[in-house]
Amino acid sequence: MAFLDIAKKRRSIREFRAKNVSEQDIYDLIDAARWAPSANNLQPWRFIIIRESSTKNKIAKASYKQTWVEGAPVVILVCSLTGAVEARFPTTGASLAKQAVASAVENILLAAADKGLATCWIAIPKPGKLSSDLDVPDNVEIQGAIAIGYARKKVKAPSRLDAGDLVSFEAWGAVGADYNTSLRGEQAKPLLEKRAIKKIRDRIKKK
Ligand SMILES: Cc1cc2nc3c(=O)[nH]c(=O)nc-3n(C[C@H](O)[C@H](O)[C@H](O)COP(=O)(O)O)c2cc1C
Repeated sequence: MAFLDIAKKRRSIREFRAKNVSEQDIYDLIDAARWAPSANNLQPWRFIIIRESSTKNKIAKASYKQTWVEGAPVVILVCSLTGAVEARFPTTGASLAKQAVASAVENILLAAADKGLATCWIAIPKPGKLSSDLDVPDNVEIQGAIAIGYARKKVKAPSRLDAGDLVSFEAWGAVGADYNTSLRGEQAKPLLEKRAIKKIRDRIKKK
């Protein structure tokens, strides 16, 4: 499937069929994760693959009691080697570790969508007890989890802001957006306002 089709097709799914996910598929998802970018190529992501109901229950409890998580055949717990990244980048390490791990998670979600697997990114706001239950060391942070399985039903895509509402040019200030009237892009403006396009063309001509 073309990349943009996969990116648009991916949905967060919270109801799963009683069909298992193969070891090969899980391996392929981790293979996709390991090619994500990371600061200084530190590759600070680590994953715990969970199939046991009792462990899924612990994850559900740690994630705002989202009990639907227990219905996923596989859950991947996503951890970062935050201590190792902080050792290299003392002030920015924690943020860089999060950013790298997030990019690895997105690779997993997209690789799963490409395979026809359903996923949902799960927040784990207070991972303290889960960390100790699963022997996660102090210098390693649980960043979240991914529920994986086969969708019970198709879900409608939640709305998205228009591209024109997301960009500005050269400096902060959304050239194409009027946030008073176009919060969710209903009053869509052209992707690039004419003024901005002219500015870009003029700059190219000068080169
Ligand atoms: C960092 C992050 C945390 C999320 N946490 C949860 C969560 O705890 N539970 C949940 O059901 N969905 C969670 N989601 C999924 C979002 O709700 C979902 O991506 C959003 O509503 C857009 O829907 P879509 O993924 O189908 O496009 C999370 C997404 C991200 C990126």
